[in-house]
Amino acid sequence: MATTHVPTELEALSGKPIAPASELAGRFPLTPSAHPASAERYEKVMSELAFGREFTDHMAHMRWTRDGGWEDRGVIPYGPLTLTPGASVLHYAQSVFEGLKAYRHADGSIWTFRPTYNAARLNHSARRLALPEMDVEDFVASLVDYVRADAKWVPEGDGTSLYLRPFMFASEEFVGVHPAGVVDYYVIGSPSGPYFTSGFTGVPIWVVKGYHRAGPGGTGSAKCGGNYAASLMPQTRAAEKGFSQVCFLDSYEEKYLEELGGMNMFVVMADGSVRTPELTGVILEGGTRSAICRLLRDEGVDVREERIALDELVAGMRSGEVAEVFACGTAAVVTPITRLAGDDFDVELPVGERTKRIHQRLTDIQLGRAEDPYGWMYRID
Ligand code: COI
Repeated sequence: MATTHVPTELEALSGKPIAPASELAGRFPLTPSAHPASAERYEKVMSELAFGREFTDHMAHMRWTRDGGWEDRGVIPYGPLTLTPGASVLHYAQSVFEGLKAYRHADGSIWTFRPTYNAARLNHSARRLALPEMDVEDFVASLVDYVRADAKWVPEGDGTSLYLRPFMFASEEFVGVHPAGVVDYYVIGSPSGPYFTSGFTGVPIWVVKGYHRAGPGGTGSAKCGGNYAASLMPQTRAAEKGFSQVCFLDSYEEKYLEELGGMNMFVVMADGSVRTPELTGVILEGGTRSAICRLLRDEGVDVREERIALDELVAGMRSGEVAEVFACGTAAVVTPITRLAGDDFDVELPVGERTKRIHQRLTDIQLGRAEDPYGWMYRID
């Protein structure tokens, strides 16, 4: 039996209509790069798509000051930033970011997925980090103007996209600890292929004990650099053992699953129901997580957002009660987890049918191969 779901604050905010790109375009006027990529470099980058390694010719920018608010909007040449060593972000990590993608559809048009969700989450993260919030339509306009300027960098084909990285940070020159009075916002983009080079074959995950990415009352639900920095050392140790990512447990009892370094998790039970760790304020409220819950619920699947005990999960994987486990996120999309291991267990699972189906359903909407009944897709160009 399908459970009822009350939309979260982010889901409710992201459902508010916004103006089409034709009306938002031009808020960030273009200053064209005098040194765009050569034809050779462009061909090389677009024919060897990796994840997040190469960037396009331009970037969007605006600056906030305590007295003036957000101003100086523009799309400018991509290049190194000039930052004073006294910029407070370098000392206190007052910085938040987002991740979303621009997809090229078969007819050549360019779309993005739920940009208002990312706008709402950026504002949520900004509030937690004492950074300024921004107008949702300004956020979307920054994507529109940037992507239109660098449209040729949006690749075509399954598993490819222009990965968009909006971010803002405290640039005030001040080493006293206080919220910055000067903040810079940028959008950069990277023509990308799959996040995991192994593709859809599945990834091995190490469940870490003794290290946590966030705790109650901390910044776990904000998309801030510090959370990712905290995940790197355990992640490195797991990589040395041959694992692609770590799974973090709750910091009180080290008993319940939270999330991977930068992705949410789902568990598919043999009875067809699906479970995902509940939103406790410690994990990130992923846009892909939210979309998957919605798609599954609309198929009549019983999706339970609840605490998932590691012991029960491992026992279920061994007994067959758990059929599939997968990770999801903007970058990772839907990635099967085919091995879960920790200090005293090591369990394997095949890539499952439900994981394949939800990946197909989601990417069909994102790539324009299936109708979008939710109004999630936003046409950029
Ligand atoms: C994303 O999925 O967009 C993220 O920001 C996560 C990161 C691991 C790339």
